[in-house]
Amino acid sequence: MSADSWDPGQYAKFLRERSAPFFDLLDLVEPRPGMRVVDLGCGTGELTRQLHDRLGARETLGLDRSAKMLEKAAAYAAPGLGFRQGSIEDFAPGAPFDLVFSNAALHFVEGHEALWPRLASFLSPGGQLAVHLPANQDHPTHVSARETAAEEPFASALGGFSLPTHVLPVEAYARLLHRLGFARPSVKLVVYTHLLESRESVLEWVKGSILTEYQSRMTPELYGRFLESYRERLLSRLSDERPFFFTFKRVLIHAAR
Ligand SMILES: C[S@@+](CC[C@H](N)C(=O)[O-])C[C@H]1O[C@@H](n2cnc3c(N)ncnc32)[C@H](O)[C@@H]1O
Repeated sequence: MSADSWDPGQYAKFLRERSAPFFDLLDLVEPRPGMRVVDLGCGTGELTRQLHDRLGARETLGLDRSAKMLEKAAAYAAPGLGFRQGSIEDFAPGAPFDLVFSNAALHFVEGHEALWPRLASFLSPGGQLAVHLPANQDHPTHVSARETAAEEPFASALGGFSLPTHVLPVEAYARLLHRLGFARPSVKLVVYTHLLESRESVLEWVKGSILTEYQSRMTPELYGRFLESYRERLLSRLSDERPFFFTFKRVLIHAAR
């Protein structure tokens, strides 16, 4: 993914809906005194601040590779809480963490079979992993984006790029964590449901998430045409109801050493 495809304003439009899994994930964490925490792919930082405050953490680092998202995050810095620009792929902590946390970011990282052992290696004895992975890749939002991207003139402009699916089948995470020595990993597939104003709202939702990946790879003019074509394809697959009932599958994972 390109580093700065994110638009914090568009992303924030559905912050309330998007933060529900964050709080569910946070509820899975067993708070301990004086925790050292890292939030991988922290985005605009307001949820990292919640994480830091709710756990009463000694130290929390929010890591993200988007400068635009981190610009917003600066406002949420607090004693013990800081933000750093960097990629999850290159992250190499100097000291272990009591909690490796990630909300809706690791699905952008390739090679989960190798990634998860790395995440586990960041942990202190007794440390915890808490990760939320969106897993809605078979929804019309995603299918329509892949199909539109495969059509000309978009395919050539995108150099064949299509948003990849790095998320493994849900049971693979239970197996991976078991292999890594976590005694009782919790891996839950949850369908979040959202009552949006109309099916057009779904378009607004994805304009702040998956579509940014395509937008950053096209001229504004071509992206306008992409949006038009995508919109037509997407809306033809969504029922015209008000409010619109939007389903979103997500995987919530917690494991403790
Ligand atoms: C959907 S947003 C989630 C942000 C935040 N965790 C939240 O819940 O609001 C995904 C974030 O992951 C970041 N991200 C994606 N891939 C990344 C990578 N390989 N390294 C670091 N950050 C990454 C993006 O820049 C973006 O800010």
